[in-house]
Amino acid sequence: MSLLITNVGSLVTNDPSHGTGPLGLLADAAVVVEGERIAWVGPAASAPAADERFDAAGRALLPGFVDSHAHLVFAGDRTAEFNARMSGQAYTAGGIRTTVAATRAATDAELDANVLRFVTEALRQGTTTVECKSGYGLTVEDEARALRIAAAHTPETTYLGAHVVAPEFADDPAGYVDLVTGAMLDACAPHARWVDVFCERGAFDGDQARAVLTAGAKRGLLPRVHANQLSYGPGVQLAVELGAASADHCTHLTDEDVAALAGSDTVATLLPGAEFSTRAAYPDARRLLDAGATVALSTDCNPGSSFTTSMAFCLAVAVREMGMTPDEAVHAATAGGARALRRTDVGTLAPGACADLLLLDAPSHVHLAYRPGVPLTAAVWRAGVRAV
Ligand code: NIG
Ligand code: FE
Repeated sequence: MSLLITNVGSLVTNDPSHGTGPLGLLADAAVVVEGERIAWVGPAASAPAADERFDAAGRALLPGFVDSHAHLVFAGDRTAEFNARMSGQAYTAGGIRTTVAATRAATDAELDANVLRFVTEALRQGTTTVECKSGYGLTVEDEARALRIAAAHTPETTYLGAHVVAPEFADDPAGYVDLVTGAMLDACAPHARWVDVFCERGAFDGDQARAVLTAGAKRGLLPRVHANQLSYGPGVQLAVELGAASADHCTHLTDEDVAALAGSDTVATLLPGAEFSTRAAYPDARRLLDAGATVALSTDCNPGSSFTTSMAFCLAVAVREMGMTPDEAVHAATAGGARALRRTDVGTLAPGACADLLLLDAPSHVHLAYRPGVPLTAAVWRAGVRAV
């Protein structure tokens, strides 16, 4: 079955060979979808025929958002903690343990329903690829079940047993690292693609983070790192040294950190929802882009530091507060996320790519930042199937 989406006012391909600039922009365009894939992209006037036809009525079409950083397997919420922060209390990540307790107490069905709710909520807002971490179980059984549940919803699953030291190991952090790199890894590796660690004061230091990431890599898991979120530290340098796909947060960076990212394939994934919801200073995207680093934008959706599934919201904040142009932010939320997940089949609308498409109720992708907070989703196709 083939589908012609025609009369596209403005098409973001993220493929410079198909249009102008880094976004590969094309006006008066059309896209042909065959099965799960993009078959053709070009001017509407020269589009081939297809079984079905969809009139985009001059609106903007772009690749579905790639949210490369989310923590969706959890129970409960932390409204009280958010309220306290908005009255001046600082974010410490200590609330992670509140969510750990609620998550351990939840049934498999409750956790699965929560993941489905957030993936669906994200899809309605144009997110067609979402990464999902464990990290609110912190026992062998609870981490493995989190990943089993996540894997039913996305192939981009990340083992984050090293989120914080489990409460049972408060007096024995080394023992917890042994568990994370031993029995817990054995139970989780079959369900995960990635391994992640929260490298931060109060969580795991550089040596512990290295142990977690190298143990994961030995089991075939690819590294990514929660790095330099709350303070300066070794996370970014470690991520680059180990060839991690992504260093996430990147809020406190030295010039050496920026240079290391710029000289590497490690994507700097920025998560403005976290700074928004913790009332912290935003990361400096401009500094990273000017240095030549690849930047991704993601939601970090979790009940503590960033309870949003909206990539459009993150993109608007990045434009307003982090020095990004709307074009750069749209690129970071699509192609950037794909790079952070080492995916070449999503985040782009070139022939052969996955037919993940977001049609906006707007004439241009710029409206995502220009019209903040406005639901602009007109339609979404995932793997060629109309989903919204
Ligand atoms: O990415 N920084 C560590 N983990 C999450 C926050 C988790 C929480 O507060 O529950 C983050 O922001
Ligand atoms: Fe996170």
